[in-house]
Amino acid sequence: MRILLTGASGLVGAAFARAAARRGHAVTGIVGGFTGELPGLLSRRTVDLCDEAALTAVVLEVLPDAIVNCAAVSEPAVVEHDPARSQALNVALAATLARLARKLNARLVHISSEQAFDGARTAPYAIGDATSPINLYGRQKIASEQAAHAMAPDFSATVRAPLLMGNSPGGKRSTHERIFADWAAGKTAQLFSDEFRQPCTAENLAEVLLELCARRGLCGVLHWAGADLISRHALGLALREHFKLSPQRAPITAITRAEKPEAARTRQAHLALDLAPLVNVLNTRPQTLAEQLAELHVPLSCQEWYSSGK
Ligand SMILES: NC(=O)c1ccc[n+]([C@@H]2O[C@H](COP(=O)([O-])OP(=O)(O)OC[C@H]3O[C@@H](n4cnc5c(N)ncnc54)[C@H](OP(=O)(O)O)[C@@H]3O)[C@@H](O)[C@H]2O)c1
Repeated sequence: MRILLTGASGLVGAAFARAAARRGHAVTGIVGGFTGELPGLLSRRTVDLCDEAALTAVVLEVLPDAIVNCAAVSEPAVVEHDPARSQALNVALAATLARLARKLNARLVHISSEQAFDGARTAPYAIGDATSPINLYGRQKIASEQAAHAMAPDFSATVRAPLLMGNSPGGKRSTHERIFADWAAGKTAQLFSDEFRQPCTAENLAEVLLELCARRGLCGVLHWAGADLISRHALGLALREHFKLSPQRAPITAITRAEKPEAARTRQAHLALDLAPLVNVLNTRPQTLAEQLAELHVPLSCQEWYSSGK
């Protein structure tokens, strides 16, 4: 398959490029500012994705069988800080790609977020449940789902993804990389003991996206996540144990939502996803936490600290 990949330098995009190359697909990756190595790409373009004309020119040059959209402003705090740029990347880009996919009869695979929901209930959210975002990022992700569906109902699949672990090109993007960065900087990781998530790795999500490129009958909004629900605090403890770090070298403090009411206003307490129907029709399986930990690397920027034993 000829695949056009946006966000090729991001956590999920880079994992997707590696997964697609292992199966012999020809991937053209679009990056923004990243200049480092990206294994798995057949070719690479530096394009500002807010520039619709430049993006359209690349898509028409590649004439892809599938477009995989991994570009976004993916941090809720950054979205709040720069809503206009975030709207362009999180919403308008999805609409443009859906329009181009329809024009070219290409598949569009797009990513949304578990943050479509408010996390006020403990039962898993199903794909048909009413959305209830509590921050701008969540609202933009829902708008992007709607844009993809409106422009390309028979071509597009949008996967709502959970909190992501995994190994990013810069080593600073995923949950475990951020916790490691705190430890390497001599800081205590402050982790909520009453916020529950169902993480998976970017590598596992990439396998799902790749399957969806070929499964053109699966359209609309779909859910994917890991097999285990866990608090952020328990996740930190599991990470520390997996990498055999002592509490002195890798300190963790449990915090609660009641202690941080301002932050809790825009953070969901409990996000669990019902994975039907995807889990019943894909070959990729939801990962247990143990399977995820086994895939994680010590981020490059923390390796000196890690191996120093100090
Ligand atoms: N990370 C999570 O925990 C998580 C959870 C659920 C859903 N998601 C969703 O999963 C998708 C992928 O997220 P991610 O975590 O992989 O994102 P990420 O690591 O933050 O990567 C974002 C990508 O977008 C590119 N980009 C941003 N602005 C650009 C611009 N103006 N022009 C060109 N490229 C631009 C970046 O390129 P450069 O770096 O080269 O500039 C980078 O490749 C997003 O839709 C996100 O909302 C993420």
